[in-house]
Amino acid sequence: MKVGTLKEIKNHEYRVGLTPNAVLAYKNAGHAVFVEKGAGEGCGYSNDQYIAAGAKIMTTARDIWAEADLIVKVKEPLESEYGLIRENQIIYTYLHLAPDRPQVDALLKAKCIAIAYETIRDNKGQLPCLKPMSQIAGRLAVQIGARYLEKPMGGRGVLLSGVPGVPHAEIVVLGAGGVGSSAVKIAVGMGAHVTVVDLDNDRLEYLEDIYGSQITTLYSTPENIDDILPRADLVVGAVLVPGSAAPKLIRNKHLPVMKDGSVIVDVAIDQGGCSEASRPTTHDNPVFIKDGVVNYCVGNMPGAVSYTSTNALGNATLRYGLQIAKLGLEPALKQDSGLMQGLNVYKGHVTYKGVAEAHGLDYTPADNVVR
Ligand SMILES: NC(=O)c1ccc[n+]([C@@H]2O[C@H](COP(=O)([O-])OP(=O)(O)OC[C@H]3O[C@@H](n4cnc5c(N)ncnc54)[C@H](O)[C@@H]3O)[C@@H](O)[C@H]2O)c1
Repeated sequence: MKVGTLKEIKNHEYRVGLTPNAVLAYKNAGHAVFVEKGAGEGCGYSNDQYIAAGAKIMTTARDIWAEADLIVKVKEPLESEYGLIRENQIIYTYLHLAPDRPQVDALLKAKCIAIAYETIRDNKGQLPCLKPMSQIAGRLAVQIGARYLEKPMGGRGVLLSGVPGVPHAEIVVLGAGGVGSSAVKIAVGMGAHVTVVDLDNDRLEYLEDIYGSQITTLYSTPENIDDILPRADLVVGAVLVPGSAAPKLIRNKHLPVMKDGSVIVDVAIDQGGCSEASRPTTHDNPVFIKDGVVNYCVGNMPGAVSYTSTNALGNATLRYGLQIAKLGLEPALKQDSGLMQGLNVYKGHVTYKGVAEAHGLDYTPADNVVR
């Protein structure tokens, strides 16, 4: 199979779909790999490294779209790319089609095959290609929060660990899933006192088993949240109700009673945010201050650590890509029902129920069209 990767063109997206190591894996399996010139620059991979791994460098994105059977990307195709997608071409990337009707129409019109990283499931029913980004965002949330607690950054001038004689910072983590448990890990490691809040007692029990008295676990009720927020130096918003807008656990009334210069990192912003005050911000302009509280609401946090994110994403996506290249698309899908769940669009059909429902389009179960 001819496999291609492109330089991402979304604002501040530095990740790349294939690392040189991934290129080598495809080459060793007997496939041809095409890489757009400069595609890996944002995460430190040079054209020479790709050439050494066996890739052919192509000058423009148009060349890659014209050549490759399987396009491995990070972000969804953007409008300027819609016209380049070819019939029967396989696009393997994050798609997030539910809120993006123009993209759905473009993929249907092109009669391509689109597999979304975010809906592939493993044999435990988990989302293996989404998980590493949650781990990264959770870890980053504490690192970023620590930075914005510094006085010159607008924060209250608090060091997470404190020092002997001066108390450590109070961190509240709302949600104890992939993002939340990663945030807890770093927060504990940095010497803060951590309170983690969730509705799922099993998640709280799991974290308490690991960290014991180093953390406090708290069941999520409005009263408990009213009580804990005024004491927080840093709040990490990490709740998720799959497929729905994030519940607004932090109400506007809470900000004026929080400490002046405290920080909210609302990681859940991609689902609308779990603070009423949140609105999406960008890496260019990541924070705004409301009622004395610093609010960080960047929707693509992992892009900031592009080297780590690219490699973590590659670790999760490579095996499925190799299976598609080795077996051919249809046999690979039929062999792995979890990969089949990644199929969102197939040759003019919407094959993912949630996407069809979100846009009022006809839904065709993947089993009916993949032969
Ligand atoms: N901003 C970014 O760059 C970025 C990166 C990665 C993930 N995310 C987002 O972060 C969010 C969390 O992702 P995740 O992987 O941790 O999800 P997850 O499903 O692993 O965990 C979410 C947790 O929230 C809990 N929860 C749900 N409702 C709650 C409530 N009312 N009170 C307390 N807890 C509640 C759930 O029980 C669950 O444990 C998602 O919206 C995800 O898309 C954002």
